[in-house]
Amino acid sequence: MSAVMTLPTYEERVAGFDWALSEEELGVSREGRVNIGWHCSDRICDQGRAQAPALIWEDFAGAGRVYTFNDLRVLSNTIARFLQSLDVAPGERVCLFMDRIPELYIGFLGILKMGAIAQPLFSAFGEDSLWTRLENAGTTAIITQKKHVHKVRKIRDRLPALKHVIVVDAASATLQPGETAMALDALPRVERFAVYPSTGETPSVLHYTSGTTGQPKGAQHVHYSLVSQYLTAKWVLDLQPGDIYWCNADPGWVTGTSYGIIGPWSNGITQVVLDSGFNTERWYAFVAKHRVTVWYSAPTAIRLLMRDGTEMAKRHDLSSLRHLASVGEPLNAEAVIWSKEAFGLPFHDTFWQTETGCIVITNFPGMPIKPGSMGKPFPGIKATVLDPRTFEPVTTPGSVGLIALRPGWPSMVRSYWNNPGGYANKFRNGWYLCGDRASVDTDGYFWFVGRDDDVINTGGHLVGPFEIESALLEHPAVAESAAVAKPDPVNMEVVKAFVTLKPGYRGDADLELEIMNYVRKRLSPLAMPQEIEFVASLPKTRSGKIVRRVLRAKEWGEPVGDTSTLMDE
Ligand code: WT7
Repeated sequence: MSAVMTLPTYEERVAGFDWALSEEELGVSREGRVNIGWHCSDRICDQGRAQAPALIWEDFAGAGRVYTFNDLRVLSNTIARFLQSLDVAPGERVCLFMDRIPELYIGFLGILKMGAIAQPLFSAFGEDSLWTRLENAGTTAIITQKKHVHKVRKIRDRLPALKHVIVVDAASATLQPGETAMALDALPRVERFAVYPSTGETPSVLHYTSGTTGQPKGAQHVHYSLVSQYLTAKWVLDLQPGDIYWCNADPGWVTGTSYGIIGPWSNGITQVVLDSGFNTERWYAFVAKHRVTVWYSAPTAIRLLMRDGTEMAKRHDLSSLRHLASVGEPLNAEAVIWSKEAFGLPFHDTFWQTETGCIVITNFPGMPIKPGSMGKPFPGIKATVLDPRTFEPVTTPGSVGLIALRPGWPSMVRSYWNNPGGYANKFRNGWYLCGDRASVDTDGYFWFVGRDDDVINTGGHLVGPFEIESALLEHPAVAESAAVAKPDPVNMEVVKAFVTLKPGYRGDADLELEIMNYVRKRLSPLAMPQEIEFVASLPKTRSGKIVRRVLRAKEWGEPVGDTSTLMDE
């Protein structure tokens, strides 16, 4: 109890806040040397934590392995040296395309240590999703597993920049020409490595994220992002010496890098990783076994836990848990109230994005939570909601506007790869627009309303309608298509596709299933429509643009709004 009572209040944390505080703790500056790979391993060893566990890893079958901070240091050196031996140069994009195995986490640090840019991609991506992102980034090397390399093989001849396909768990003899085996345990351990002399603005991580128009955009981050990620992990996730921290997110998405690698390790905190899908019993057993103290999860997972009831939670010893936080989609009030019943602790909502690189609006430990609200801006983050017509801050409490941030915090995205126009389009009147709507109450708490575009948020993962529609159009039966969000009790939203067929095709259940599988294989299970409705025509503007808004409104039972610009059917 006493620890909670001595926590600074929100006002105390905001008063006189300066990111310099974080710079001092880390010993970095914007102009000086900073390397995330070094900060997450070598520096922690220098601080006397070399033998402390950094990664406690477990796979779906329950097999496990523990890596100390010294292991992280030496093995990331080893991967860095290996990449150098292949002539991978600083600034080149190296893709990580793996399940949550140790090589993914250690490889991330190794890539950064030798000055290349880490491009993590979700291992469930199919060949089209993979190709789009590798092609856009001009990726020169990809590190993957035996079970995923077939997807790379299918597209390699269409990726002229891709020089190296590195497989971590295959013997050379089983690989095809032009592929390289990298068995980390068999490589000579590199004790000392000259870390690339990156400075604050040196590119570090490239994360692809979806928007309404066009293919996904590569959000390019820099090493200075550490300054935001370190402090937000410490204050919002409340990481303290002795903690056992668990972040459910996959490093294919930004939560899995900012708070599944950089945040905890730059703080010298032990983290546990479970390379396995969702299962309530298994998750509780994992928390109990490892005595997890801080848990960063997501609303979809919480809703699945809720479905199994408080009794299942009570059957496990979850008394080690001290702090719970959530991200990715709206955390409904019921979930906060339920978690208090089940765990004796509320989930703290945190709001941010791939582009923000760190938590920007949040509930701090010790701050009074209003269930259903995202909380308040992190110190050093100036957030507001703007009137959508004037792009001036809304002055009446409770009115809905566009969530906007004043640019300049350390982990803000620096550009979209190869897409300066898309980046410029995110700013109005000197504000960065998140693409979301919210209101702010009289106490300064933010309340999420919804996205301000057609992006579908399924289980906390953004999927762009354009990418789905492009895949649909490649199917021989499809003439036109529109992908929209449809409500779902667990994932909040799932993909629904409306499709018109080419002459000679019949829209029956078999075709629906075939098209669903087609999208799942080419893109990912997330992007697969859960329902396909065959229609005679799609609503369009007079200029012929498909209006997803009308289709979406029907799914949600909402008013369709102004249809005066639509073509008469
Ligand atoms: C979008 C960003 C950064 C975490 C993983 C997602 C939605 C995120 C919340 C929240 C309501 C949320 C927004 C945002 N979102 N957190 N606490 N409440 N919505 O990163 O893939 O870039 O998605 O996720 O729509 O813009 P991302």
